[in-house]
Amino acid sequence: MKILVINGPNINMLGIREPGIYGANTFHDLLALLDKTAADLNIQVDQYQSNHEGYIVDKIQQAYGVYEGIVINPAAYTHTSIAILDALKSVSIPAVEVHISDVDSREAFRQISYAGLACAHTIKGQGLDGYRQAIEYLVNNKS
Ligand code: DQA
Repeated sequence: MKILVINGPNINMLGIREPGIYGANTFHDLLALLDKTAADLNIQVDQYQSNHEGYIVDKIQQAYGVYEGIVINPAAYTHTSIAILDALKSVSIPAVEVHISDVDSREAFRQISYAGLACAHTIKGQGLDGYRQAIEYLVNNKS
């Protein structure tokens, strides 16, 4: 199985940005976790991070016919981007939304998720382990 993990803006700043909210683990730690999860489950996991909305749309479109699952943390674009929602709907690849923090217990504007409308499942507030849980969800629910 081939899964693509997409991270949006500022996720590359993990470990530096707001550690009280996002924890002390770095983006490098996240990449290591993805590699370990892929090895443990004997699947292929590729990753892409961008601070640019259109690049994320491009990457979702390019996933069509290539990947059987998408894990996406659109970060701030979660709460604003109809373009990312439409891209996920366009490719119809089973998708799981991840948020490192518990967005439900934060500001009201973080409780709106456009991308989540195209996702089969959402994992919030589990730290980096949420990515492993999302990959496992896609593996366990493969059609
Ligand atoms: C986030 C939550 C978003 O509200 C925020 O803009 C992020 C990260 C999370 O993983 O908790 O950048 O998606």
